[in-house]
Amino acid sequence: MPYPHGALPGVSLLLALSGMPALAASTVDQARAEEIVSERCSLCHGAQGEAASVVFPRLAGQHAEYVAKQLADFKSGKRKSETMQTQAAGLTPAEMQALGAFFESKSVAAKTPRDLELIAVGRYIFNQGNSFSGLPSCASCHGPQAHGTPQLPRLAGQHPRYIEDQLQQFNKRERTNDNAVMHTVAAKLTALEAHAVAEYIATLP
Ligand code: HEC
Ligand code: HEC
Repeated sequence: MPYPHGALPGVSLLLALSGMPALAASTVDQARAEEIVSERCSLCHGAQGEAASVVFPRLAGQHAEYVAKQLADFKSGKRKSETMQTQAAGLTPAEMQALGAFFESKSVAAKTPRDLELIAVGRYIFNQGNSFSGLPSCASCHGPQAHGTPQLPRLAGQHPRYIEDQLQQFNKRERTNDNAVMHTVAAKLTALEAHAVAEYIATLP
């Protein structure tokens, strides 16, 4: 018995610090998020954020802050999508946060790589960019595993079709709610590069 007396006081101190009111509030928010997801979001994004079909983005594992910000942008019309503006219209900031926390806590299975040559092109673009066209590497911002940060979206495991669609929206300046950095990136991608990098991203766990 190496720690006969140390363990118990440590545990009770942690419990005291975690505090009941905060715990109760987050449980309520979480219950509300689960209710909203099962009633509405799950129809398109899946019950666990896995997406009901390849045309809808996966939200599982996405950063809570990013999800909450996109919902606020859909609601205000800064990010344009008729479908999502309707969905976000009635949400409060607290509900947006809770929905973000709900989806961040879920995980999705990465896609099994099929066309290995295409995936290799995508991996190169993701990690190295293209020095001939001045395309920066995606990894330099989104991280080596495409896990992103609270300010920068996670891409790993996303459906390729959604990735390609968003790259086109950035390129055509249809998606302008955030900073302009993705416009420059998307403008430099060829169709092959965009397709290959999207296929590669989908295989990242
Ligand atoms: C009828 C289908 C549908 C429903 C229901 C729906 N969504 Fe969406 N959602 C979409 C589509 C389509 C997009 C992609 C919009 C675009 O093209 O930019 C999207 C995008 C999003 C995004 C941005 C994802 C990203 O990676 O940037 C978030 C966050 C989101 N939805 C959250 C929700 C939440 C939360 C709910 C429930 C309140 C919900 N959605 C309900 C179809 C739906
Ligand atoms: C200089 C930093 C930077 C680089 C390099 C970069 N990104 Fe991004 N990316 C961002 C930021 C920031 C966002 C959030 C949206 C915005 O600011 O416009 C984003 C958003 C995205 C989105 C939307 C995700 C979603 O959930 O809707 C996709 C897709 C994307 N990036 C793909 C790529 C790919 C593919 C590459 C490499 C070819 C790349 N990015 C390189 C910073 C970067």
